[in-house]
Amino acid sequence: MADGPQTLQLRLDSRGATRRLGRRLAACLAPGALLVLAGDRGAGKTVLVRAIGRGLGVSTDIRITSPTFDLVHELPGRIPLVHADLYRLDDPSTLVELGLSEHIGRESVVVIEWGERFRQELGPDGVTIRLDLDADGRRCRLEAEGPAGQALLGRLMEALRERPIAGRSDRPA
Ligand SMILES: Nc1ncnc2c1ncn2[C@@H]1O[C@H](COP(=O)(O)OP(=O)(O)OP(=O)(O)O)[C@@H](O)[C@H]1O
Ligand SMILES: [Mg+2]
Repeated sequence: MADGPQTLQLRLDSRGATRRLGRRLAACLAPGALLVLAGDRGAGKTVLVRAIGRGLGVSTDIRITSPTFDLVHELPGRIPLVHADLYRLDDPSTLVELGLSEHIGRESVVVIEWGERFRQELGPDGVTIRLDLDADGRRCRLEAEGPAGQALLGRLMEALRERPIAGRSDRPA
């Protein structure tokens, strides 16, 4: 799908809309996928990851929190979730020590908050999701790179066409 869809923009008018996006995204995810989350503090990255995790079958007995201090959480699920938060990481060489790259393309879905700065190190295939807060509310831009990223975004676009997230949330931003 080299000429597949590259970007998708959505409005996320409520926390519920962000959660629904996470659930719908999870339904499109396959083991090995990489999602890189960008956006300011409080933009909704962890809210999105939590919904993705539940959609992947991470038990509600397991809290899904931003791994700000321990950097990486590995959570069991129907598809396991590797959840990282690189806010405190400055040195790309530390990324190697974290072993994140070893999870990408394997049996888990890898979701990385604040991963955009390390996009190069993480490899070229995946979807970058930027969440933005502005005076008008919240906005989300998904950008696919590489064949697996483009296939994933294609599946999501198709799913949202068939059944929108609801309300105003699917209006182009
Ligand atoms: N449309 C929305 N989508 C997501 N969160 C929303 C929305 N509207 C309000 N919120 C609130 O904004 C906050 C988002 O916090 P969250 O921890 O997900 O941000 P974050 O991007 O992970 O921040 P950090 O970079 O500090 O980890 C939550 O308290 C949530 O309830
Ligand atoms: Mg967070």
